[in-house]
Amino acid sequence: MKILAIESSCDETAAAVVEDGRTVLSSIIASQVEEHRLYGGVVPEIASRRHAEAIVGVVDEALTAAGCTLGVIDAVAVTYAPGLIGALLVGVNFAKGLALSRSLPLIPVHHLRGHIAANYISDKELKPPFLCLVVSGGHSHIVEVRDYTDMRVVGRTRDDAAGEAFDKAARAMGIPYPGGVALDRIAEDGDDTAFALPRPKVDGSPYDFSFSGLKTAVINLIHHREQKGEDIPVADICAAYRRAVVGCLSENFLRAADDLGYTKLVLAGGVSANRLLRREMERLCMGRYTLSMPVLSLCGDNAAMIGAQGYYEYRARHVAHSDLNAVATLPIDVNYQ
Ligand code: KG4
Ligand code: ZN
Repeated sequence: MKILAIESSCDETAAAVVEDGRTVLSSIIASQVEEHRLYGGVVPEIASRRHAEAIVGVVDEALTAAGCTLGVIDAVAVTYAPGLIGALLVGVNFAKGLALSRSLPLIPVHHLRGHIAANYISDKELKPPFLCLVVSGGHSHIVEVRDYTDMRVVGRTRDDAAGEAFDKAARAMGIPYPGGVALDRIAEDGDDTAFALPRPKVDGSPYDFSFSGLKTAVINLIHHREQKGEDIPVADICAAYRRAVVGCLSENFLRAADDLGYTKLVLAGGVSANRLLRREMERLCMGRYTLSMPVLSLCGDNAAMIGAQGYYEYRARHVAHSDLNAVATLPIDVNYQ
């Protein structure tokens, strides 16, 4: 089954053709990041306008790159939640019009389920059940993936998402948006023991995260040094901060795995590209757990992952009606009805 998938939930306009949920025939991504960088973050209205400009060309390119015409496409999948509402609406309306005009099934896909499904492309043997750490710019969840469309959130962030925590700390050090990527690179040359940073815990919720205190600690550290006229050892601060964030993520994730009896572990979302998180999880899992993580090109936002999850949503008969709407906030465990 060939699915044409569309993703426009944030600042990437993406389209892909995916076969049977596992094989990517094409994946095209038009990123707006350069433009949003001028403002230090994503400007929703600009994002919507750029999606509207780019979407026809991106879908066309995805079909051409896959060597397909619309005539051989079996269904259209689209990210309908969560995300920036104006951005989502561009993809949803485009997909709806396309599906209607060709009498194709329209499959609504939850963005975070898509991030998880990136792993079905990278690891062809991976099947639920497994425990997944989903870490993106807007969400940090520990999710029990009991089946392809049956999920339960067992841990979540109480404040900032992991990606947001990286981006905000990077911004305080003058690293341009989205700073998480550069912070990770800079941290490779730093000494992660140069500064002691807190590892915040959430009372009574052993799997929940809280990053705002950690972010404040690093911002205070920078300000104190600035006030005293001391230099800012950016690489060391990045390294200590990255170590602390990754420590919180891996510790809670493994605790949840042990308590809930999971030995199959999976990483997903933009932050799963983090070098230390990948190394640390590989080290901690060795001999105790099996670990899957997406190839780097599938960690960030893309449409191939939406096509992968779309296949399993279709098999579960989660097909949209003509009144499909975009939803800005939607829990991952809610199925489309
Ligand atoms: O999943 P994603 O592409 O978009 C959302 O759904 O939010 O995640 C984007 C987030 C950004 O906050 C970005 O800074 C972060 O992922 N990110 C990273 C790395 N690569 C992307 N954070 C830390 N280390 C990285 N290597
Ligand atoms: Zn994402």
